[in-house]
Amino acid sequence: MGDTLGLMTVTSFPDTEIMVRIDEDVRGRDIFIVQPTCPPVNENLVELLVIMDAFKRASPSRMTVVLPYYGYARQDRKDVGRVPITAKLVANLLTSAGADRILALDLHAAQIQGFFDIPVDHLHAGPVLNEYVRSLNLAPSDYVLLSPDEGSIKKTLTYQKKLGGSIAIVDKRRSSATETNQANLIGASLEGKTVFIFDDMISTAGSVVGAANVAKRNGAKEIYVLATHGVLCGNAIERLRDAPIKEIVVTDSIPLPPEKQLPKIRVQSVAALLAEGIRRIHHDESVSKLFS
Ligand code: R5P
Repeated sequence: MGDTLGLMTVTSFPDTEIMVRIDEDVRGRDIFIVQPTCPPVNENLVELLVIMDAFKRASPSRMTVVLPYYGYARQDRKDVGRVPITAKLVANLLTSAGADRILALDLHAAQIQGFFDIPVDHLHAGPVLNEYVRSLNLAPSDYVLLSPDEGSIKKTLTYQKKLGGSIAIVDKRRSSATETNQANLIGASLEGKTVFIFDDMISTAGSVVGAANVAKRNGAKEIYVLATHGVLCGNAIERLRDAPIKEIVVTDSIPLPPEKQLPKIRVQSVAALLAEGIRRIHHDESVSKLFS
């Protein structure tokens, strides 16, 4: 936006409690707090809540929380008994801490918007990731868009609307939070094709690496992975390094520290997209028009 960041001091007490002080007058101002609740998730989430509380007590006219990455989004339903719906709990916490609006980027499930009783604007990194695919100058007949599981089919179809190409799906079975099994392929043949695997996030990389292995076994020529959020935890970096993947494209929705960098990981910026979302909210303009 070409604007300077507001002034704030974030420190912690010796017992690790977070302490925040806003170092400028914000009375009557339109506030945008940008914080991805990425690892360390609990630290970043509590820090965000404490920052919000400091703002709430300083009388701004409106407070929008900009979440480039929404941590806990995958705990969005009770799939077995006696488990929490933490994505909803986080929505409650943000609302109680004083958020008037949320601006989010590629939520794990679009329905998470319904966990909030305040307006949520949902941005998609699609235009940024599509730009990378187009920069390779391939004919759509030469590539296949591969969904790494059945949950990502809709997202992959959205990419296909813009990029063309045909679609295939990997049959993924999750055995634990870190292990997945992928064996079968449904849909277009990958023989001799360039394959683009799209996902909302790479966490332990089990999903995309499993999908890449299936693609390789099915004759793919080159394999690319494109995901909005590079969470890259556990042994994701080792898995990605050893996988038959030519390039991995993630966005800067989550900062990529030096120890998580690989020559084949490329970071595309969503700063302009978020800035335009913020500008439109501030001027009461349509955010959805950004994608039409
Ligand atoms: C699954 O529902 C998501 O879209 C991602 O595929 C998954 O959460 C990524 O996790 P991991 O990298 O640990 O397989």
